[in-house]
Amino acid sequence: MGLMPARIIPLHDDRSLAVAMSPAAGPPSLPLADTLARPLRDLRISVTDRCNFRCGYCMPKQVFDKHHEFLPHADLLSFEEITRLAGVFTGLGVEKLRITGGEPTLRRGLETLIAMLARLRTPDGRVPDLTLTTNGSTLVKKAAGLRAAGLKRLTVSLDGLDDAVFQRMNDVGFPVATVLDGIAAAQAAGLGPIKVNMVVQRGVNDDQILPMARHFRHSGVVLRFIEYMDVGTTNGWRMDQVLPSAEVLRRIAAEWPLQPLSHSAPGETAQRWAYADGGGEIGLISSVTQAFCGDCNRARLSTEGRLYTCLFAHRGHDLRALLRGEPVDDAQLARAIAGVWTGRSDRYSQLRGTAQAAAEPRVEMHYIGG
Ligand code: GTP
Ligand code: 5AD
Ligand code: SF4
Ligand code: SF4
Repeated sequence: MGLMPARIIPLHDDRSLAVAMSPAAGPPSLPLADTLARPLRDLRISVTDRCNFRCGYCMPKQVFDKHHEFLPHADLLSFEEITRLAGVFTGLGVEKLRITGGEPTLRRGLETLIAMLARLRTPDGRVPDLTLTTNGSTLVKKAAGLRAAGLKRLTVSLDGLDDAVFQRMNDVGFPVATVLDGIAAAQAAGLGPIKVNMVVQRGVNDDQILPMARHFRHSGVVLRFIEYMDVGTTNGWRMDQVLPSAEVLRRIAAEWPLQPLSHSAPGETAQRWAYADGGGEIGLISSVTQAFCGDCNRARLSTEGRLYTCLFAHRGHDLRALLRGEPVDDAQLARAIAGVWTGRSDRYSQLRGTAQAAAEPRVEMHYIGG
């Protein structure tokens, strides 16, 4: 498949939200379960569709050029709207809030949002896990402020240690050293444990697997290798560009023996492995060769307030319209969200390669935050 123009898939209709909100529908019964008995535990919140990188697998330069129109500010959910929705989600069982983008640290005043989200509690009084996925480009300046606002930990995307490889991948000439300095700043600020995500593309950066592993061993940082996925419509994904996690594991274990670890949280994306010599742990995220839809407990809130129940969904549910329309109370919002979740049957990664999966349009990743 060649490169295609980016398009935002329009919302069709939202009768499901309207029905779920009607007073006839009682309070949702908890814990929520979708049609495949999966609970709702994790909310990923995209706070901007903009990014200062142009990674070819996410926002290729040819498509996201100076003519590309990003969302106008009025279309973005405000911090109050995000916090209100996150509070409703927390009441429905969400225990982890992850801020994403685009590049989330480009959203002006992000620290204010973090501070608002840090005040949320689960119904039994616990503090939700509050984290962020960033490209690391602004952390030297922003890590301490994010920590002070109440962020607990973060994940940095970094696809190689060699400047030529990394700059080819971010496609804006951004240097590795600044991201490494950002990781160090985050560690110094007490944001931990820090994870580093490396998307592996065969023939593009797979020669960086061992250097990255060597660099992050004994550092306290958890390095995770991600199979290149066919998200969105613009990256021209091909199966032969995917380096299976089994091969990543084989290469690393040949150098440093590894032992399997169990999941640290239900529905975790990564399979964890520990270096036998005590050098720390790595993760393998194998959405292509070993789909993990079976216990997928993640909901996604797009930059402009649509609720997506799968990374590969083609339609979101317009929660912003509910927030900005006739006044609704939180109980109504909870019923609407519960109605969407209980009707959910997504399992794209398990269906990948089937005619059904190929026929569906998809949302762009930078817009729902991966
Ligand atoms: P932790 O809470 O630290 O375990 O983070 P996470 O793995 O949930 O989130 P992160 O943003 O670090 O995502 C890691 C990779 O997994 C990214 O490439 C995501 O796009 C991918 N990913 C996250 N959630 C899903 C999912 O539900 N389905 C698929 N197919 N990929 C996912
Ligand atoms: N395949 C796999 N991972 C991807 N990411 C972005 N696009 C893709 C893709 N096509 C990763 C980013 C970030 C995380 C949120 O998703 O590198 O670490
Ligand atoms: Fe930006 Fe992350 Fe997408 Fe790269 S993967 S273009 S850093 S949002
Ligand atoms: Fe969840 Fe969809 Fe990813 Fe499967 S493909 S794990 S259902 S987000």
